[in-house]
Amino acid sequence: MSFPHLSEVLKILDGALRSNASMSSNYAGLLADKLEQEGEREIARRIRERLARAPAAVAYAQDAGGMAGGLPVDSESRLETLDISTPAKGSVHLFLPGGTAKRVEEFLQSVRHYDRLREARAAMPLRMLLYGAPGTGKTQAARWIASELGLPLLTARCDTLISSLLGQTSKNLRRIFDYIEQRPCVLFLDEFDALASARGNERDIGELQRVVIALLQNIDALSDNTVLLAASNHEKMLDPAVWRRFPFQLPLPLPDTALRHQMWQNMLGEFAPEALDWQLLSTKSAGASGALIEQVSLDTKRHAVFAGSAHIDEEELFRRLSLSLALADGHALATLSDEIRWLRNWDTKIFSLRELARLYNVSTRQINHYLQDDHGNAGKPTRKRKAQP
Ligand SMILES: Nc1ncnc2c1ncn2[C@@H]1O[C@H](COP(=O)(O)OP(=O)(O)O)[C@@H](O)[C@H]1O
Ligand SMILES: [Mg+2]
Repeated sequence: MSFPHLSEVLKILDGALRSNASMSSNYAGLLADKLEQEGEREIARRIRERLARAPAAVAYAQDAGGMAGGLPVDSESRLETLDISTPAKGSVHLFLPGGTAKRVEEFLQSVRHYDRLREARAAMPLRMLLYGAPGTGKTQAARWIASELGLPLLTARCDTLISSLLGQTSKNLRRIFDYIEQRPCVLFLDEFDALASARGNERDIGELQRVVIALLQNIDALSDNTVLLAASNHEKMLDPAVWRRFPFQLPLPLPDTALRHQMWQNMLGEFAPEALDWQLLSTKSAGASGALIEQVSLDTKRHAVFAGSAHIDEEELFRRLSLSLALADGHALATLSDEIRWLRNWDTKIFSLRELARLYNVSTRQINHYLQDDHGNAGKPTRKRKAQP
């Protein structure tokens, strides 16, 4: 027999059995929201009416968005160990390749229909590990998932978490997990590889391992329908004990040409000049992460604003893109001639002598001079004298 919203009912019961009124009322609020969305307005109204009659302390907790007693804090520093945000639906832009987007959608469906899946014995714990190079959108994906689910995003950074736990009882950890069990939310463990590096660390291994094991135990003790996301830049460092705990796994690749095209269009927005060569831009930005595209877009837009222009300068955009790619690739272009030689090598058509002269506000003769500087060393990082502009 099917019993819709069993998850919420059980959480309300848990709260009652633990004399945890705010937990019960948080989940009753969620139940009312869900019923209302399904058109059961009368039932939702009756639940909310009951909640409105709750004692003052509980009512306060509801008003504060279920934040009874504030966020958990470190017992020594009193600093908050969790960061809370509530990204509004539609406020987060996420660009993913088709296959990846589909996996995220499947995850969302699993969260939304958890009870039905469970009944059919097809449910998996709602835990997803996001992994990929820095700047590919892992944190952004966590925000997007929370916004789509309409749940607050509670972020704990594992690197700070682990160091805050060293030399401490596991009280900090317990507080975090107690806190998140009491309210509908998405728990996001960012920089999750800190766990893996902690495990392999020589120094103080006993202490670190104790902390990591405590964290994994707390994850195991979560109810299966708590939404847990974790992000890692170094998936190779994570051992099978960690992978096993995440039935959903989402690799985030660098964007392909089509996706870069979308990102540029979105991020440049109205600042894009009409004649902008999108095809060339998308091709030439091969290897760029979403974060790099965003950074270059912002920098170039800022440049346009300061120049009092409504549109960005296309060559300036390519210049910043090329230099950012060089930096991301480990080329330290220390001098102006390094920079100019790099651009010239990158694309002689975009960066003609005249264009370079315009961009750097010098004569073509001067550009020629820069190009001949450090002859035979083009594009390589050099630490010679600083060129004068
Ligand atoms: N796939 C993407 N879709 C949308 N924005 C992205 C994407 N990848 C990166 N970004 C942009 O770059 C910034 C940094 O990305 P972030 O999600 O923090 O990367 P990561 O957590 O993987 O290191 C974000 O604020 C976002 O604006
Ligand atoms: Mg991140």
